[in-house]
Parts: sequence; structure tokens; C-alpha cells
Amino acid sequence: MSTPLRLGIAGLGTVGTGVVKIVRQKANLLAARTGRPIEITAVSARTRDKDRGVTLSSYAWEDDPVALATRDDVDVFVELMGGSDGPAKAATEAAIGAGKHVVTANKAMLAMHGNTLAQAAEAADVALRFEAAVAGGIPVIKALTEGLAGNDITRVMGVMNGTCNYILTRMQSAGLPYEDVFEEANQLGYLEADPQLDVGGIDAGHKLALLSAIAFGTRVDFDGVELEGIGQITIADINHAADMGFRIKLLGVAQMTGRGLEQRMSPCLVPKNSPLGQLEGGTNMVVIEGDQVEQIVMRGPGAGMGPTASAVMGDVTDIARGFRVSTFGVPANQLEAAAPARAVTPAPYYLRMSLDDKPGALAKVATVLGKAGVSIDRMRQYRHDDSTAPVLIVTHKTTRAALDEALDEMTRLDVMATQPVALRIESV
Ligand code: NAP
Ligand code: HSE
Repeated sequence: MSTPLRLGIAGLGTVGTGVVKIVRQKANLLAARTGRPIEITAVSARTRDKDRGVTLSSYAWEDDPVALATRDDVDVFVELMGGSDGPAKAATEAAIGAGKHVVTANKAMLAMHGNTLAQAAEAADVALRFEAAVAGGIPVIKALTEGLAGNDITRVMGVMNGTCNYILTRMQSAGLPYEDVFEEANQLGYLEADPQLDVGGIDAGHKLALLSAIAFGTRVDFDGVELEGIGQITIADINHAADMGFRIKLLGVAQMTGRGLEQRMSPCLVPKNSPLGQLEGGTNMVVIEGDQVEQIVMRGPGAGMGPTASAVMGDVTDIARGFRVSTFGVPANQLEAAAPARAVTPAPYYLRMSLDDKPGALAKVATVLGKAGVSIDRMRQYRHDDSTAPVLIVTHKTTRAALDEALDEMTRLDVMATQPVALRIESV
């Protein structure tokens, strides 16, 4: 009988219990696929006597995840607690220091500390794997590091936060305002403990930063991600976009440009008939473009017990087979520091504004746009019942810098009833 691979699991919530279930229910299948048994030897969580719907009595219990991570009978430390710092980071560092492989679903920790953790893992000659951290059940890390290794990746983009996609598609289908659907998502338990991680685009930004590192061989740079959440999207935006043949998505885009690495996570208009435009509910989609493969599209559940545990087990089985790949596809000390480039690729923009309904108001806006070199493609003024006029402008392709110059100037005009909202129209 070959030597078993022994797991120590810290975190027995949604993902952790999912992993316990797979290891218990699919023991024979996993052994056949990897050539050795995969066993759990020890677990840890905050509360020992909680009913988690799985039998844990045959595993050793540790109150302290650091103690779990350094146990002699643990080969792989499976970190499923969450949080960028605190116990997750301390236990991951301890595991690496003790020569254990690490598998984690923790995008926040890797987005903030991925470079140093990957270097530590390589110095200790152990694996640090994170398939479950990006786009849940979609094996996108494996696709980038292995299946697409013969490509220069030119662009990576996607919808990587299921909660935001649920909110935006539900607003569209039910005609409900943002606030109502946000509350619905809360009742359904979709929101992170800090909802700003979801609706502020931070969670999806963490995921994009991790994908960028692999795609472009660069150091993880979450601070370089331009972040914009979905909180300013109104049902009017959803409807205007639909009228023009678009859907609004919280879209992440990363590409290497002549000026540096462009990484942005923001609500964008995408054609409603495109794969991204048709993505409904909590589903995720990642689009990868490479010089050889052209374009591939991966779609699947971005969260939930089964899908996320499935991704964790993909990493565990690789380790069981003895398959090793650097955390970000190339050795961590070879990752290059890329200068962050701010949305340099020109695009058309959707502008929604509310103007005081008085003579010359629209002319002032048009003048400001013209002075900044932003050309108007289409314009509509909607019916209004009070003293303000809702105006919608679609620009020709322009840079974000030129648009920002115009938006900044507009705030000084005496005709703006509210702050304008600008959404990029992305070609996908
Ligand atoms: P969760 O349901 O909140 O579970 C977290 C677990 O960690 C709980 O069992 C908790 O213990 C335990 N824990 C927290 N602090 C601890 C500490 N100081 N010491 C020991 N145990 C501690 O979280 P989750 O949804 O499973 O997420 C786990 C990780 O996967 C996170 O990094 C998350 O971002 C990532 N992820 C989750 C999903 C998803 O669909 N849920 C998808 C992708 C990635 P108690 O149960 O005793 O409170
Ligand atoms: N809050 C995340 C989402 C969970 O909605 O996609 C999965 O990472």
C-alpha cells in the first residue's frame, strides 16, 4: 500500500465541510486517481462542538490552527478559514516553515501576501496552491499555468464575483432597484461578512490580481487594480444599457500594455449577446486570450460548498500525485514588478447625468467634452417631471484620462444636478 497523503484542515465552514465530505465519500476514487490514499488526520475551527453535518470524531482536533499546521502527522495544510491576515496567514507561514504543502481558497491573503508566501514556499521546497481562490469551481489557475503554458497571454477578463452578478442580473430581470436586490442577496446569505468586499469590487479585484500574476509573469499587485464597485448602478442604467443592446457586468480586465500592466475591476457595458452578456445569476466566467489559442471561455459556479471544495481537491490530488508547479506558474523570484498602467486602452463610455433643465445646460456639457477631446457618438434626453433633465451620452472611443479631465471639469459647471456616472463599454 502506498503512503497516504495526510491533510490537516483549518476552517470547517462552507468550503471546509465540503472538502471533508469529498475526502470521506470519494476515498476509493481519489486513491485510484492519485495512486495513494488521501486521509484527514486533524481539523481545526473556532467552535469545537458545532454540528457541521459531517462526522469529525475520527480526526484529531486542534483549537489553534498554527498547532494544526505544524503537526507531524500532517503533510498538507488546507487553509479554509479566510481573512488576509490573522490566523490564516500565521498558520500558512507556520505550515510552510514546518515543511508542509499548503492548499488555500483564500484570495484575500494571497492578493496581499502572495509574493512573500510563494517565495517562502519555494525556499522550503513545498507547494502553495490556490485553485479555489479564483472563480470557485472553474479550474482557471490550472488552465493558465498548465494548459495554456505555450501561450503569451494577451488579455484576461471575466466576471469573478457571483454576488455582484446576481445583483445586476436580478435588477434586470425583476426590474428592482439596487437597494432591494442588495437586501435580497443579504437574506439569501450571498454577501461576504463585509459586503463591501463584494459590491465594492474588492473580492473580484483580489482574484484579478492573482490571475494577472500568472498570466503576465508579474508580482501580485492588488494595489495596482483600479477598483470601482456596483453601488452607483441604478435600474435606469440597467434599462438604458438594455435599450442599446448591452448588459452591465462587474468586469475585470487585465492586459499588458506598452505603459505597464492595466488591471481594472469596474462595472462595464458588454454586448448582451456576448458570452459575458448572457451570464446570469451567481455564475462566473473567465475569458483568456493567448497568442496561440486565440480565445477561450470558461464558465461555472464561482462559489458554494461543492464547487469550491472541488477546486481545493484538484490541488490536493496534484500534490498526492507528486505534481509540482510554481504558485504563480514561474518561480516567485522571477516574477517581474510591472508598473501599473491606468486604463490606457481607449474605449467608448456611457455617461449618465442629470442636468438642471435650463437653456444652454447641454451645450455646456458638450463644450467640456469637446475641450477634453471626447467626441459624442450618441445622446438622449429622457422625459423628466421635475426641474432636472436625465441625459445619456455615449462617447466615441476615448482614454479614461481624457474622460476624467472632462468629468472633473463638469463638476465645476453650474448645471449638474448630480455627479455624472461613467461606465466603460468593453469590447469582448
Ligand atoms: P466560513 O463558512 O465562514 O468558514 C470559516 C471557517 O473558519 C469556520 O469553520 C470557522 O470556525 C473557521 N475559523 C475562523 N477563524 C478561525 C480561527 N481563528 N481558528 C480556527 N478556525 C477559524 O468560510 P467559507 O465560506 O468556508 O470560506 C473559507 C475560505 O474560502 C475563505 O478564504 C473564502 O474567501 C474562500 N472561498 C469561499 C467560497 C465560498 O463559496 N464560500 C468560494 C471561494 C473561496 P467556526 O465554524 O467554528 O466559526
Ligand atoms: N463573495 C464571493 C462571490 C464568494 O460572490 O463570488 C466566492 O469567492
